[in-house]
Amino acid sequence: MRVAPFLHWMHQLLLGTCIVFAQAPLHATEIDWLAIGDARGFIAPCGCDPHTDLGGIKRIATLLHREHLTHPAALILHLGNSISLLPEDARKNTFIQKALAELPLTASLYNEGELLHPEGLADLPYVLSNAKKKGVYQSMRRVSTYEIWGFTWAESIESQVETWAQFESAHHSEWEKTDPAIQRILLFSGPTSMLQAASHHPWALIVSANTNKYGDAIGDEERKDPARLVRLDHPFVRMVPLAGQGVLRGGSLTLSDTPSLASLLQPDASTQIKNTPRSPLERIEITWLDTQYEEASPAAALFAQYEKEEAEFFEQQREKKKREQAESPFAGSAACKGCHASAYGIWEHSKHAHAYGTLQDKNKHHISECVGCHVVGFSKPGGFISAEDTPHLAGVQCENCHGPRKAHSMNPTLKGEAATPCVACHKQPHSPAFSESTYWEKIHHGR
Ligand code: HEC
Ligand code: HEC
Ligand code: HEC
Ligand code: HEC
Repeated sequence: MRVAPFLHWMHQLLLGTCIVFAQAPLHATEIDWLAIGDARGFIAPCGCDPHTDLGGIKRIATLLHREHLTHPAALILHLGNSISLLPEDARKNTFIQKALAELPLTASLYNEGELLHPEGLADLPYVLSNAKKKGVYQSMRRVSTYEIWGFTWAESIESQVETWAQFESAHHSEWEKTDPAIQRILLFSGPTSMLQAASHHPWALIVSANTNKYGDAIGDEERKDPARLVRLDHPFVRMVPLAGQGVLRGGSLTLSDTPSLASLLQPDASTQIKNTPRSPLERIEITWLDTQYEEASPAAALFAQYEKEEAEFFEQQREKKKREQAESPFAGSAACKGCHASAYGIWEHSKHAHAYGTLQDKNKHHISECVGCHVVGFSKPGGFISAEDTPHLAGVQCENCHGPRKAHSMNPTLKGEAATPCVACHKQPHSPAFSESTYWEKIHHGR
C-alpha cells in the first residue's frame, strides 16, 4: 500500500534525514515547530568516531538561526538538559548557558540538569518550570495563539518540583476551558506513567524529552531506528533525539533547499520560504546535525573564547601539578620495555601509543575534557601534566589499564591493580563500534 512514502523515507534515510509517519492526532492542528534539547554538555561532538560526529550546541545554533530567518513564525522549543552535570564542567557550563541565551528560543523547559545546576537561565522570560518555588519560574508562556506549558519530574529533583497530579490539580480548570483560538502545547520530561496521565488532556502537541540517565548517550541504534526516538505509542507525543544529536521538526516546515546561514546573512539575501504540501498523515522529521552544520555557527566566537580560557586554565594548573610530580606513582611505558618486551612491542604499534598526537593534530591538547582519555593519569596526582612537563605520560599507555606501576617496575614482586575495563574510555559517544573481542584482538598481549 504505502510504497511511495516508504521509498521516500528510505531515500531520506540515505540522505541522513528521517521522516517518520505518526498517527494523525485527533485534534490535528498545523503548528510549525522545531524542538531541541539534551545537548548534555556537548558544545561540539568529540570527533572520536565519525559515526557519532553529530550534534552539539554550536551546530544547534547554526540550524536554529537559519530556521529563524527562513521560518520566523516557527516555534522553537528547548526541552532542557543541555548542560553537563560533571563538576569539572562548571567552566564549560557558563559558556553553554550564554550560548543558549542567544538562541532564538520560544520556550525552554527547566529540566533535571538545570534544576540541579540552577545558575543562569532561570530569569529568561521563556523558561518554563513546575518547580515548587513560586515566583522564580513560570509554568506557562503565551506566544501569539499558543499557550506553552512546561513540566519536569525526576527522582533526583523530587523535592523541588510538583508531581503531575499536583501540577494537574493546579491547572486542570484552565486546561478544560476550550478556546478554539488557543492551541496548548506541553513540553514534558518525566516517567511514562505521568506522560500517560498528561496525554488525557486535549493538547495540540506534547513534545517529550528523553529521560535517559545523564551520562547515557546514544549509539547508532536510535539513528537506524528513529521509531525509538519518535514515540508513536501515545497520540501527540514526540520525542527529542537523544544527546542533542538532532533536531525534531513538525508541521509544514521543510528542510530541503534551505539556503545556507552564511548566504542568509548577506545584506541582499532574499529569503525563500518553502512550505511543502502537507501529507494527510502527521509528519515529523529528524534532522541529524552532521558536519554541514559546522558552517558559520553564531556560537563559534563564544566557544572559541571557551577554548582560549581552557588553554589558560591548563597553563595555570601546570605549576601546582609539577609540585606533586616528585611522588608520582607512574613510570611510563618505557620503564616496562626491558622486562615486558613483547607487550611493549604490541603497545608501541597500537593506536593507544599515539592517542596524544591525535589531540595535538586537532589542537585540542589543552582542553581538559579531551585530555583525560588520551593520556596517563590526567586527573590523578603525579599523572600527565603537559607534553613539556611529562612527555613520558602522553598517550594511552600500560598504566592506563594496569594502574600506576612505578613501584612494581623497581620491585616486580609488587603486584598492581587489576586491569581497568576498556569501557571506561570506549563508551558512547566516543567509541560506538567498540566490542570487547574485536578490539582486544588488535592489542592482544600477555597470557
Ligand atoms: C624489572 C623487570 C620488570 C619491570 C621493569 C616491569 N615488570 Fe611487570 N612484571 C615483572 C615480573 C617478573 C612479573 C611477574 C611475572 C609474571 O607473572 O608474568 C611482572 C608482572 C606484571 C604484570 C602481571 C601481574 C600484575 O601485577 O598484574 C603486569 C600487568 C605488569 N607486570 C605490568 C608492568 C608494567 C605496566 C610495567 C612498567 C610500568 C612493568 N610491569 C615493569 C617484571 C617487571
Ligand atoms: C584511558 C582510556 C582508554 C582505555 C582504558 C582503553 N582505551 Fe583503547 N583507545 C583509547 C583511545 C583514546 C584510542 C584512540 C587512540 C588514537 O587513535 O588517537 C583508543 C583506540 C583503541 C583501539 C584502536 C581502534 C582502531 O580503530 O583501530 C583499540 C583496538 C583499542 N583502543 C582497544 C582497547 C581495549 C581492548 C581496551 C581494554 C582492554 C582499551 N582499548 C582500553 C583509549 C582507551
Ligand atoms: C571518555 C573518553 C574520551 C574522551 C573524553 C575523549 N576521547 Fe577521543 N577517543 C576515545 C576513544 C576510546 C577513541 C577510540 C575510538 C575507537 O576507535 O573506537 C577516541 C578517538 C579519538 C579520535 C580518533 C582517533 C583516530 O585514530 O582516528 C579523535 C580525533 C579524538 N578521539 C579526539 C578527541 C577530542 C577532540 C576530545 C575532546 C572533545 C576527545 N577525543 C575526548 C576516548 C575519549
Ligand atoms: C588497553 C589496555 C592495556 C594496555 C594499554 C596494556 N595492557 Fe597489558 N593487559 C591488558 C589486559 C586487559 C590484559 C589481560 C587481562 C589481565 O591479565 O589482567 C593484559 C595483560 C598483560 C600482562 C599479562 C598479565 C598476566 O597476568 O599474565 C602483562 C605482563 C601486561 N599486560 C603488561 C603490559 C605492558 C607492559 C603494557 C605497556 C607496554 C601493557 N600491558 C599495556 C590491558 C592493557
